[in-house]
Amino acid sequence: MKRSHINYAVDKAHAIAETFRVSLPDFAYFTVDAWRQQDQTRWREVLDLQLGWDITDFGRGDFAQTGLTLLTLRNGLMGSVNYPKPYAEKMLQIQQDQQTPWHFHRHKMEDIVNRGGGDLCMQLAWATSDDGYDARRIVEVSVDGQWRTVDAGETLVLKPGQGVCLPPRLYHRFWAEKAFVLGWEISMVNDDLHDNHFLEPGGRFPVIEEDEPVKWLLCSEYSRL
Ligand SMILES: [Fe+2]
Repeated sequence: MKRSHINYAVDKAHAIAETFRVSLPDFAYFTVDAWRQQDQTRWREVLDLQLGWDITDFGRGDFAQTGLTLLTLRNGLMGSVNYPKPYAEKMLQIQQDQQTPWHFHRHKMEDIVNRGGGDLCMQLAWATSDDGYDARRIVEVSVDGQWRTVDAGETLVLKPGQGVCLPPRLYHRFWAEKAFVLGWEISMVNDDLHDNHFLEPGGRFPVIEEDEPVKWLLCSEYSRL
């Protein structure tokens, strides 16, 4: 993914948040230069837990088709005395027709909520014991506290305001239809390095081509400070 596309994606994410009247914490507005002017010892929690912007094309190289804009707002660290917080919160921005590919989480339970915009469409399927895709097993999930039953791979449409609870080992794939979707994730502690399993090769993070200077550091890049 080109750096220019990442810089643009964060600029756009700020504008979209403003359109939805969602106010973000200070660190969401720190350019790399602003970060360098901060007393970073005061921001250790943000830096250590990698709160902040996470723009990804899931290693596929086509952000418009397969990609996601995330802002990690809260997180903890499993087994850590310093960061015992057992929950995480993320803002998700999903462009129209942009998909997040099939994956499940080994430990994390998460709620994915459509906070507004178009329809958030989601396909679900259980993982088999060897991490494959179970095409036969029926899926029962809670949408805002109401049980819904879908077949493996059937599309569940989450309208604005609706959210689904995804237990560990439930494969999910989602995309926005009709318009951009402002999504929200409320979950157990998030560990993107170890907890994600993708059905197809690609990965969680982009390979970055540095075609222009960094404006916004991604949360995985704080070691550059
Ligand atoms: Fe997920």
